Amino acid sequence: MKISYHGHSVVKIMTEGKTILIDPFINGNNLTDLNVKDEKPDAILLTHAHNDHVGDTVELAQQNGAKVIAPVELAKYLGSFGLDTIGMNLGGSKEFDFGTVKYTKAFHSSSYTTEDGDVIYGGMPAGILFKAEGKTVYHAGDTDLFGDMALIGERNEIDVAFLPIGDVYTMGLEDAAYAAELLKAKVVVPIHYDTYPPIKQDPQKFKKMVNASEVRILKAGDFFEL
Ligand code: NI
Ligand code: MN
Repeated sequence: MKISYHGHSVVKIMTEGKTILIDPFINGNNLTDLNVKDEKPDAILLTHAHNDHVGDTVELAQQNGAKVIAPVELAKYLGSFGLDTIGMNLGGSKEFDFGTVKYTKAFHSSSYTTEDGDVIYGGMPAGILFKAEGKTVYHAGDTDLFGDMALIGERNEIDVAFLPIGDVYTMGLEDAAYAAELLKAKVVVPIHYDTYPPIKQDPQKFKKMVNASEVRILKAGDFFEL
């Protein structure tokens, strides 16, 4: 399994000959190295409906016929664009030909703002546990620190956890470091920082705060193999 980071909360996973994009926010993402026209995802996984996570889902899915997996209310909305959507909700897991996706809790909000300024209810925000090739990847989405991360850590052997550290809209450094302790992931990758001035953050400080996991600070385009 090859995993790469592309700025903000964008994660790409290549496994079983398939390409999966999580929260593909490309246009408007100053940190990303991706171009919408070059991406050929087989599946797109969305944690919640905020525009900095749904990003270019509609165009990417229309261009590639990618399956879009999202919280049910968001999936229903995206289905109105003719996309092949699969709605899921917290606690639910589903097997696909590229791996198993499970939706877990996140403490946040979830609405999509259209170009006309209409606000669409996006259902519950979520984290995603993705399992393939005997490996487990956790993408926390946008979230506050919550005690049930310990439960997620107890019940899953997480190989890599992507955790927001930007503060203001999500956990900041200290809470994200505590989250890492609860999750007991082998590797933690900080995400959702530096994209905008309010979430400017020093990931090196985060690295110093985390003892139980190896922290890998990735730049857009960096990848590793699991
Ligand atoms: Ni959000
Ligand atoms: Mn966000």
